[in-house]
Amino acid sequence: MKIGMLTGGGDCPGLNAVIRAVVRKGIFTYGDAFVGFLEGWRGLVDDNTMVLDLEAVGGILPRGGTILRTSRTNPSKRPDGIDRCMASLEKNKIEALIAIGGDDTLSVAQKLHERGAKVVGVPKTIDNDLGGTDYTFGFDTACNIVCEALDRVHTTAEAHNRVMVVEVMGRDAGWIALYSGIAGGADVILIPERPFDVDKVADSIRQRHERGLYFSIVVVAEGAKFSSAEPGQGAPVLQDMGKDEFGHVKLGGIANILAREIEKRTGFETRAVVLGHIQRGGSPSAFDRVLATRYGLGAIDMVHRGEFGCMAALRSNKIVSIPLIEAISRNRVVDNEMIQIVDGLFERAADKQVV
Ligand code: F6P
Repeated sequence: MKIGMLTGGGDCPGLNAVIRAVVRKGIFTYGDAFVGFLEGWRGLVDDNTMVLDLEAVGGILPRGGTILRTSRTNPSKRPDGIDRCMASLEKNKIEALIAIGGDDTLSVAQKLHERGAKVVGVPKTIDNDLGGTDYTFGFDTACNIVCEALDRVHTTAEAHNRVMVVEVMGRDAGWIALYSGIAGGADVILIPERPFDVDKVADSIRQRHERGLYFSIVVVAEGAKFSSAEPGQGAPVLQDMGKDEFGHVKLGGIANILAREIEKRTGFETRAVVLGHIQRGGSPSAFDRVLATRYGLGAIDMVHRGEFGCMAALRSNKIVSIPLIEAISRNRVVDNEMIQIVDGLFERAADKQVV
């Protein structure tokens, strides 16, 4: 078969591992040929391609980013965008397309599927917020990076008797904050799913310091919200008012505001650290290399079983095939059960309310 492949949306560690697995199994097992569409859906809109053969995927397993490059291009926002994508598939004689991306990229995949294209999706995002799958690749690497940063922040916080507020990515989901906060031993973890009261955060830190601990680590998700009476009035903090082609705002800046408010209320010296795109860069963890490889192997099998309009998903540690529509119809955010489990780490009722 002649198969097209693309990577769309924000990059994440493990994209190259998926590409490599698809191409290797496709060539070794099925005798397929591959065409890479460059820079996400832009590659189909503009018919911009590269050959994907064994040579092209040699040595890419540990590399971050994506050899196909990526963009947040949304063909539905261009006058004849979807038609142009269909035309590129036809011109390149593509019999099936593998789209590797998050909810935005896969929502376009669903649209093309509805127009008759044979599409299979692979879930990707460091945010881990895609429905229908237990984990997306990239998330583990991001958590490892944040965990290492927290260990480093810990020692400098301790040396200076400071409160350190560390802002992490995740968009509207608190998975990165929660997992890395647990792994890094954070004293306060703030996630978008539970708007927080800054007085209670300050109180919790003050009490901790009164117990003889002179430093504190706060992990805050970029999408976390002050409860309504506080700065921001219950809305997330934005870098600016701009939106991308999928209508997403640019989140960011909450750590600086929060650090100021904590210092004002407690009198403790407080600093903000924003980890930003460092969380998405560099080599994937061993876990993500394996998960991404399994997704790639699953996706090429799905193509040859004719499971189109579907996405490879991880369920109970097995790669299964689920309808794309199931994955894109809801964001998977941190649930109450998970929040209650984490509450068990904290001693006092007041602390529990701030997680
Ligand atoms: O969706 C992945 C993500 O890294 C989010 O966590 C973050 O809000 C966003 O992308 C950043 O996007 P950009 O790379 O366009 O700045």
